[in-house]
Order: sequence, then structure tokens, then C-alpha cells
Amino acid sequence: MNFHIMTLFPEMILQGLNTSITGRAIEKGIINIEAVNIRDYAFNKHNKVDDYIYGGGAGMLMQAEPVYLCYEAILSGIIERTPKCRPRVIYLTPQGEVFTQKKAQELAKEEDLILLCGHYEGIDERVLEEIVTDNISIGDYVLTGGELPAMIVTDAVSRLIPGVLNNDVSAEFESFQDNLLEYPQYSRPEIWHGKRVPEVLLSGHHANIEKWRHEQSVLRTRQRRPDLIDISNK
Ligand code: ADE
Repeated sequence: MNFHIMTLFPEMILQGLNTSITGRAIEKGIINIEAVNIRDYAFNKHNKVDDYIYGGGAGMLMQAEPVYLCYEAILSGIIERTPKCRPRVIYLTPQGEVFTQKKAQELAKEEDLILLCGHYEGIDERVLEEIVTDNISIGDYVLTGGELPAMIVTDAVSRLIPGVLNNDVSAEFESFQDNLLEYPQYSRPEIWHGKRVPEVLLSGHHANIEKWRHEQSVLRTRQRRPDLIDISNK
């Protein structure tokens, strides 16, 4: 799967994603991440990509043209490889639909994803109207730019691609599966700070272990995220 991230800070994206599990997946060629600098598509000699906001207001806005030229360059590369592909373009914005595991699963089916990171006060609405297919927010708070949200979306989607996690089953039985949080887990030693590993987990009785884990998932979800139970009952 190919992620094409449009940003003013490509080094931030690459430093974040070139490590650990996503870094290994890149090395293995399972995912490919290109961070494209929008500034390379500035159409003036000062490489300026922002300007004042019509009608007044604090701060600067990213201009339409560099964003559009950057998008066109990425798109022509994708079309050369796969002529029929019209990739989804995700704009990271606090005004978007809140990102969920379900959305990650939906996006993991795509071959190419273009992610657009805003900065300053945002991006000229006209280019957003022309290229964006999905607006995604990572939560109801405002960050300084779309880079961290783009990294979060890329990470959550990547780990669903077969081969990215060493153990593919671990992507199946985890939090948010059936709107339940994951059950508590334990490793050695059997007793730590006087706390014992629950007896059932040492029993080797797989049916009982599954039953206990499901009960714990339900209990944990009720205590910590009752809103998820409400969603399932709707
Ligand atoms: N850009 C700034 N804040 C954001 C958020 N919460 N989600 C996505 N993109 C953002």
C-alpha cells in the first residue's frame, strides 16, 4: 500500500514513520510512504506558500495553487502505475469525521492514499473543494498542523495490512473489535508486587480462557467506555 503525504514538514513525517513497526514494513516493501513537500510547488521565487486571509482574520492561509500542483504531481505518478486508480484524498482537519478503527479498516482496502496536512490557519477552500474526498479529525482538539494526525492515520491503517504485524492474529483480537475494549493481559513472573496472574490463564483450558477474556472485555468496556456499549445496542 502506498501513502502519499502532502506536507510542509516532510522530515517530521519520515522521522516518525521510519522507525519501529512501520519502519520495518517500509524496509520489507509492504508499505511505501512518500512525504511530498508542498513548498517544492510554490509558484514564486521566494518559495512562499501562504498569504493573508481575504476578509481579515488572524494568521495566514496556505494558498490553493501549490497544494494543487503538488496533488497533480502525485496523481500523475499513481495514474502512470495504475491508470484506472482515482485515489482518495484525505484532508486532516479538526472539522472532519472523527477517526475510528472502522474507518482505518475501510482505508486499509485502498492501494493508494493521499493525505493532505494543513498548517497555519488552514488551506484555501477552493482547492479543498476540488481534490478532497474525505475530511478526517483525530479528535475534538486543535493541533498546530495535520502532520501528527496524518502519522496517526498512516500508523493505524498500516498495521491492518497483512504482513505489517509479525503476528496477524493480533490485529484481529484487539480493542474495538465488536465495539469492545481488549481484555487485560499478563506476562511473567506469575507473582509481581504481590499480584497474581488470574488462575484461569494458567489453567491451559482454552474455552474457559476465552470465556474469561470476553467477560473482562465487556466489564472493561462498561467501566471505561460505556458509550461503545450504547453504540452496539443501537
Ligand atoms: N489539524 C489540527 N487539529 C487536527 C485534528 N484534531 N485532527 C486532524 N487534523 C488536525
